[in-house]
Amino acid sequence: MGIKLGMLGLGQFGSNFVKLFKAHPLVDKIALCDCEPTKLKTFTEDPFMQDKLSISECCTSLDELVKKDLDAIAIITQPWLHAPQCLQVLNSGKHVYSAVPLIQLPDDNEVLDWCHKLAEAVKRTGCQYMLGETTIYRPQTMFCRRKALAGEFGEFVYAEGEYVHDVDGNANGWANLRNVMKNRTTGTIGEQYNAIMEPYFSKGIKHSPMSYPTHSVSGPIHVMQTRAIKVSAYGVRNTNNDPFFDRYDMSNIFALYQLANGTSLRIAECREIGATSFDRQESEIFRIFGKQGSFSRNVWQNNCRTVAGTAQPIMENVPNPSDKAWPWAGYKEMTPAEMRTPLPPEVQAAFKPVCNPNATAKDDFQPTDHGGSHPYLVHEFVCSVAEQREPAIPIREAAHYMAMGIAAHKSALRDGEITKVELFD
Ligand SMILES: NC(=O)c1ccc[n+]([C@@H]2O[C@H](COP(=O)([O-])OP(=O)(O)OC[C@H]3O[C@@H](n4cnc5c(N)ncnc54)[C@H](O)[C@@H]3O)[C@@H](O)[C@H]2O)c1
Repeated sequence: MGIKLGMLGLGQFGSNFVKLFKAHPLVDKIALCDCEPTKLKTFTEDPFMQDKLSISECCTSLDELVKKDLDAIAIITQPWLHAPQCLQVLNSGKHVYSAVPLIQLPDDNEVLDWCHKLAEAVKRTGCQYMLGETTIYRPQTMFCRRKALAGEFGEFVYAEGEYVHDVDGNANGWANLRNVMKNRTTGTIGEQYNAIMEPYFSKGIKHSPMSYPTHSVSGPIHVMQTRAIKVSAYGVRNTNNDPFFDRYDMSNIFALYQLANGTSLRIAECREIGATSFDRQESEIFRIFGKQGSFSRNVWQNNCRTVAGTAQPIMENVPNPSDKAWPWAGYKEMTPAEMRTPLPPEVQAAFKPVCNPNATAKDDFQPTDHGGSHPYLVHEFVCSVAEQREPAIPIREAAHYMAMGIAAHKSALRDGEITKVELFD
């Protein structure tokens, strides 16, 4: 038997998920919610939705949605709303999926408080929380997670992660953050933004790039399945009175963490930076280095040591890239298709008309959006609910991502002072 799923938030990002959730073979029924009736109408009138969409249960408020006969609700609303909405869903006895981040507010202590409230609610209600972090289902992360599980990195030694997203975007497909903010602060809910933020800003409590750290920290933390213990960080401030940064105390933050597995992790969160990488190889990326294997820029390298601690002669025989023997056995540049873990065939078949509407019967399924992560996120959440198990990105990991950003921000405000990172069990 499949699941009954609700979705709150049919805006720019959420609308990309509706048809995927509807198409999943384990979803029997879907109900949609947005306070903007026109956004609902797009889907209630779409023939593709008809076999599973419960039109009578579509509604315009979360208060109504939580009363419906549903197993789970996916929340893809504005980022300052996520945590209280997720708490309401958990308290109604339903599993919840949240777009990233767990919550975005200027007050770090309040964010930590929300992390604790949600962790407590998951324990108390027995319902699950899953963070919809796209990085976890990028091909690079899936590949590295498999390598980590197989022990092929050896002992981890060092990692880096970065999210380099300039406020103005660029010609290579990055969203312009001024436009994103304009969109999220219009409409019935969006227009409440200024009133909600005023109490913080009037006290001088401001955002930082580390208020939304999930894309940079999640890859290394998830692959290594470890936690950050402490951090020292430095920031850069906007100096040209750009109004976008009026509500940010820093526009870029760079942090060095010590991790529980003994490695160091360097993180960069940048919103004011001249990065123009076409393929995001230098903008939304991580590198992970172990004593035996390492991953960087879609390349897996292995020093071919068979026994830890024993240097093998092959290290002396590494050919030069100009040699005919290049690439040598320990070097492999991976394509996205090689790095991905394939979805089950019946799920690929169900998602294909959504992701690849112009594909022919002969064409393979191609996962789309944010590195092909969207179909994987939907599959993982639906399966976790159907199988009544913890999802791959549970509350304790989602909360830790926020705690990492908060600790880095605090450290940066205190000139790099070493700052502890909170853990969630
Ligand atoms: N890579 C990623 O993981 C990624 C990328 C983009 C956006 N996001 C996240 O997705 C989220 C949504 O972004 P967006 O650009 O779609 O925002 P949006 O403003 O376009 O859409 C939000 C929608 O939620 C609705 N809504 C909010 N609260 C509601 C309520 N209580 N009742 C009814 N409707 C309600 C609004 O009416 C709006 O239509 C953000 O939190 C963002 O952080 C994540």
